[in-house]
Amino acid sequence: MRTLIKNGTIVTAVDTYAADLWIEDGRIAAITAPGGFGGSPPQADTILDAAGKFILPGGIDAHTHLDMPFGGTMSADDFETGTRAAAHGGTTTIVDFAIQSKGKSFRSALDDWHQKAEGKAAIDYGFHVIATDVNDSTLAEIPALVAEGVSSFKLFTAYPGSLMTDDAQIFRALRKAREAGALTMMHAENGSAIAVLVKEAIAAGQTAPKYHALTRPEIAEAEATYRTIALAELAGAPVYIVHLTSPRALEHVVRARDAGLPVYAETCPQYLFCSLDDLARDGFEGAKYVCSPPVRDKAAWPEIWRGIKTGHIQVVSTDHCPFRMADQKILGKDDFSKIPNGMASIETRLHLMWDGGVGTGKISMNRFVEITSTAPAKLFGLYPRKGTIAVGADADLLVWDANKEHVLDAAALHMAVDHSPYEGRKVKGAPEIVMSRGKVVIDKGVHVGAKGHGRFVKRAPFAMI
Ligand code: URP
Ligand code: ZN
Ligand code: ZN
Repeated sequence: MRTLIKNGTIVTAVDTYAADLWIEDGRIAAITAPGGFGGSPPQADTILDAAGKFILPGGIDAHTHLDMPFGGTMSADDFETGTRAAAHGGTTTIVDFAIQSKGKSFRSALDDWHQKAEGKAAIDYGFHVIATDVNDSTLAEIPALVAEGVSSFKLFTAYPGSLMTDDAQIFRALRKAREAGALTMMHAENGSAIAVLVKEAIAAGQTAPKYHALTRPEIAEAEATYRTIALAELAGAPVYIVHLTSPRALEHVVRARDAGLPVYAETCPQYLFCSLDDLARDGFEGAKYVCSPPVRDKAAWPEIWRGIKTGHIQVVSTDHCPFRMADQKILGKDDFSKIPNGMASIETRLHLMWDGGVGTGKISMNRFVEITSTAPAKLFGLYPRKGTIAVGADADLLVWDANKEHVLDAAALHMAVDHSPYEGRKVKGAPEIVMSRGKVVIDKGVHVGAKGHGRFVKRAPFAMI
């Protein structure tokens, strides 16, 4: 089967050019000058006309939490609903987190997550492992997991008593990951200090959602970011700071990168489009915006955009961790610390970043592709199979309509939640066609793919240094 996408303008992280694109066996077979064949052109079984549209590599979301236990409940999207929603938004690959239960192996976490995803996913997926119990036995598992295509591990300096690891565990994990060719990812907040502030706030009757942010101040993120970078330097290891929110934390990343250290950072749309004002909305509405680290004062937005523009922040992922308001977020009605942490955003990342980034002139189309697809592909061992448009790459492609305007509305979105943090926001730019390995999975807003089409992707070892 041969498919031709003709008359489009290809946009990669480095180039923008008009071309025809030929797909065979799920991969990009050729890229030719528009209508460039004199005489008798090759035939295609299917022809898609992309005149007036851009052709982009499918989005890669390197930070999702599907079917995950958290805060006494489960994230609302499983691999079926979550990956279908991702596809609707133009994301064609996710890397989700398999959580190690304390006392169990990394392997058992991975086995559980394979079971959750297999036969359900609409798009391709990989896994990071969340390490909660770092010891001789679990450290010894790392090389085999890297060989199986799981080449990144996340640790937490937050959530004492559940996910948090101490500095010795972090240091050991960083060293072992470096030896094995894995990238260590860090949720950087000082969980111990935050726990004190949370306890005091609750005792003082400060129970509303806004206190979630006030008890997780920027300095707690900045301290843990610096500590993580220092431990990584000591271990001679690369490190990736997930969901960076704060200018003070960014300063540490900038300083480390300028010093030549292999330090990488990711932010998420909520830190560019949501703020303390949202957390302080009337009634319990603010609960929709409870995530960790928290959304910050609006004054942080231009600083985080600056990090994206200068390249100190390389990736924009979602940290999609959705919970319904009606029966999940409500668990924290009288105590903000019981509101399950996380926001629903797997479907809206590209809309927001195109509209708010490219549409406002903050970033170019090429930088958009880089932060949402190419850079995560490179950092997480998916490149060049994914994350770009090149001969031999998987045909994970978007026909992108830069002029399509629509309003984000929970009822029309496809995530398994009863709200959108971006409800009512008008955005311009959307995928018209989404293709996963050469198969159209979304056609003008309709899911035409199959449950179980998505496959586990074996990722290569970390190779950015
Ligand atoms: O609030 C968040 N971010 N929930 C998901 C877990 C995490 O910390 O990434
Ligand atoms: Zn986190
Ligand atoms: Zn997360």
